[in-house]
Amino acid sequence: MTVTSRGSNEPSLDNFWMPFTANRQFKAAPRMLASAKGMYFEDTDGRKILDGTAGLWCVNAGHGRERIADAVHRQLSHLDFAPSFQMGHPIAFEFARRLGDIAPAGLDRVFFTSSGSESVETALKIAIAYQRAIGQGTRTRLIGRERGYHGVGFGGLSVGGILNNRRVYPLLPGADHLRHTHDLDRNAFSKGQPEHGVELADDLEGLVALHGAETIAAVIVEPVAGSTGVLVPPRGYLERLQSIARKHGILLIFDEVITGFGRLGTPFATEYFGVEPDLVSTAKGLTNGAVPMGAVFASRKIHDALMTGPDHVIELFHGYTYSGHPVACAAGLATLDIYQEEGLLRRAGHLATEWREAIHGLRDLPHVIDIRTVGLIAGIELQSRADAIGTRAYEVFVRAFDKGVLTRVTGDIIALSPPLIIETGQIDQIVSTLHDVLIEIL
Ligand SMILES: Cc1ncc(COP(=O)(O)O)c(C=O)c1O
Repeated sequence: MTVTSRGSNEPSLDNFWMPFTANRQFKAAPRMLASAKGMYFEDTDGRKILDGTAGLWCVNAGHGRERIADAVHRQLSHLDFAPSFQMGHPIAFEFARRLGDIAPAGLDRVFFTSSGSESVETALKIAIAYQRAIGQGTRTRLIGRERGYHGVGFGGLSVGGILNNRRVYPLLPGADHLRHTHDLDRNAFSKGQPEHGVELADDLEGLVALHGAETIAAVIVEPVAGSTGVLVPPRGYLERLQSIARKHGILLIFDEVITGFGRLGTPFATEYFGVEPDLVSTAKGLTNGAVPMGAVFASRKIHDALMTGPDHVIELFHGYTYSGHPVACAAGLATLDIYQEEGLLRRAGHLATEWREAIHGLRDLPHVIDIRTVGLIAGIELQSRADAIGTRAYEVFVRAFDKGVLTRVTGDIIALSPPLIIETGQIDQIVSTLHDVLIEIL
């Protein structure tokens, strides 16, 4: 610890270059979390903060789960690390097998990564490699969607649709985008899937007409876009996207980094929406956020198409030092046990009506121009201040934190995604805190 003007026991804030943070603003007025248990963080002043965001959409089983801590501790003493390149260790195979049991229908081949971004890069690369393996080597183009977020690798940025993520960097040639599905004029205050917008899936037909199907490897979408403010797909949209993709030999990738592991009340969004993509990228809830890890679920068709050629040749030239990390696998196995024993992968479905009605109770408050909910997710969109986009929701975030509730903001949208263990009283606490804040602010 360095002695600082902030207090003798507090570390200097200078060295940590914080991610996705206005560093200077934060360091001038830091919000520091010191510990966490169940639904609550405790900050460095000893205040309890209700976690309205499951950390960053990842702590689905709530904080401080001893079963995960014990499993991690045991694994660290037993086998702290082992390479997965031309070597194996049983726990990685065991975790993949267990994931295979709950995998999206037909997608029981599992490639491990260390994060959501890596899962996205992996899924995109598998898609292109698969197309080549089946004799479709001209298919290298990747299609994403406006307002999509697929992490921060160059592939993910290229198919992503957030200007601030993209503007500074060179992007993959050929990437193109569907329009986003956000339509306040027609769909404001939808409960669950909005009525209007199925026709937006036809954008894929338009891109096929423009570029030629023979150039397109895959289309990637988040089933529910989270990072750009909770955009729920219109009724029929994902189904139509699937059928257009299939018709043209384009792989469909669902990026389920936030929707995976129970967020909608089903293990994966594939089941919730009744859609069968070819690849699914995940992370976050995979280990309850306790140890960084991601996983890509692939169909046997894709996997097997790449298992060709001489036996001694590496089939997919791709992988990470930490793919199948034993400690992450231990955390993941303990997480799956908790999910299964406590029924958490379905719990959001039981809470969804209560959640929806409680959050929609905020609709008549000042500045609120939309509320959207699905599963255990909510987005509350505020009217932006003239010439100061984002400041109103940011103020809500700070004031709610000061009143003991952690929310997340993007632009002028407040996003909520609490741990799946949330109880009625805690839903009420989130709603009443936001109610008070929305009345206070200008
Ligand atoms: C849909 C989606 N994909 C990818 C990512 C990137 O994950 P990570 O931050 O673990 O790299 C995120 C992160 O929020 C996400 O929401």
